[in-house]
This record gives sequence, C-alpha cells and structure tokens, in this order.
Amino acid sequence: MIKKINEKLIKALNEDLEKEMAAIVRYLHHSFIVFGPNRGPLVQMFRAQAQEATVHAIKLGEKITALGGHPTVKVDQVFEPGHQTIEDMIEEDLKAERMQLELYTKQLKEFGEENLPIKLMLENVIIDETMHVEEMEKYLRTTNEDLVVLNKNGKNG
Ligand SMILES: [Fe+2]
Repeated sequence: MIKKINEKLIKALNEDLEKEMAAIVRYLHHSFIVFGPNRGPLVQMFRAQAQEATVHAIKLGEKITALGGHPTVKVDQVFEPGHQTIEDMIEEDLKAERMQLELYTKQLKEFGEENLPIKLMLENVIIDETMHVEEMEKYLRTTNEDLVVLNKNGKNG
C-alpha cells in the first residue's frame, strides 16, 4: 500500500522537478538575452529566480531519492521564439509561475493529508511560488491599479 502511494508521489515530484529544471533554463536564458538600459537589475532578477528554482529542484530530487525513487533528467519544454521583448519574457515567466503554483496546490490537496513532511514541503514551495507570481505581476504593472487589468484581460493567465 505504502509502495503504491510512494510511486504516485514520486511521479508527481518528478513532474515538478522537470518544471523546475525548465525554470532554471528559462530564467538563465532570459538573463542572457535581456538588453537595454535596465539590463543590470533584470539580469540579477532572472538569475535570482534561476537560483530559487535550483533550490526547489534540489529539494525535489533529494525527496525523490529519499522515497526510493529515481530523479528524472527530463526538462519540461521551454518556449524559444528567438527574440523576445522584456515584457514578453516576463509574461512567459508569469504564466509558467502560475502553472507551477497551480500544480503544487493540486498536489498539496492530493498528498498533503496523509503525509505531514510532504504537506510542509509543498506549503513552503507554494509560499515561494506565490511570491514569484506576485513579483512577475509587479514587473508588468506601472501603477497600483494595474493588477485588476492584468487579471481581467487574461493575457497573462
Ligand atoms: Fe517559481
């Protein structure tokens, strides 16, 4: 019974790991292709995000092996149109962050109840991902009233 539960959980954590690996690739890529007078702080922001995704990936990989599973080397697909404006990049990042937050929240419901350490791990990751979503939303806003528009037009959701 426990083996069966662990298999499902390992599969779910490997899905998360693929997405965190893709986030590392995506954020580093964005840090390389960002140009213009605001490049300095944006490079720092993208690389800080890549580091946070690395921290999540390490947590996931270690948990997978602790459960007796094998961590994936797969990387989820990263959008690569060649050229992107800063806004394009941040919109892509916001979309990915929202999807990851949704996935972790779904997994918390599925696995959290019978497994306290997993519940706490997912809750912590959810706190981080929520902050990432909020941060990307702020990069796309110019005023405090913009959030309504950002959520309403669905462009980024
Ligand atoms: Fe994130």
